[in-house]
Amino acid sequence: MRPDPITVSLARIGSAWGAAVTTATIGGRAVFGGTLREINAGALVHYDDINREFPAGLFDQEIVAQLAFNVWVTVPATGGATTVWRHRWEPADERHREAYGYRPETVEHSQHISLAPELGDGLLFNPANFHAVEPNPTGRRVAFAFFLGLTTTGQLIAWS
Ligand SMILES: [Fe+2]
Repeated sequence: MRPDPITVSLARIGSAWGAAVTTATIGGRAVFGGTLREINAGALVHYDDINREFPAGLFDQEIVAQLAFNVWVTVPATGGATTVWRHRWEPADERHREAYGYRPETVEHSQHISLAPELGDGLLFNPANFHAVEPNPTGRRVAFAFFLGLTTTGQLIAWS
């Protein structure tokens, strides 16, 4: 796609950060970065944390903080909101496991913010905070998405 929304987004983020965003590498090889995701049926409450998923590390770079980025290119008329809770994983959450995520009780007492995406909106957030996507009954909810990691040397790297 030209222009490539991933390239444009990474360039803008790099410009705001003050240094270009590079791609995460494994054994010196760049990993894939940039997905086009269509989520219409919602997503369970869950979190994404590469350091918990790969405690011994996955990339050549060591990551001290992770961010998730989405930019919407198609949005439904209703539904499809993303909610992020002020809650990070704790052992008690395991009582509420459901499939790949957690039942809503795990975040019912946590502060939260919901964003119903508008066309062209971007959302940058810490995905270690529990988050979920509300289903949209009609229409399509399509976003370009990637993760960013802050490395121990102060660089931003991207992957999907
Ligand atoms: Fe997620």
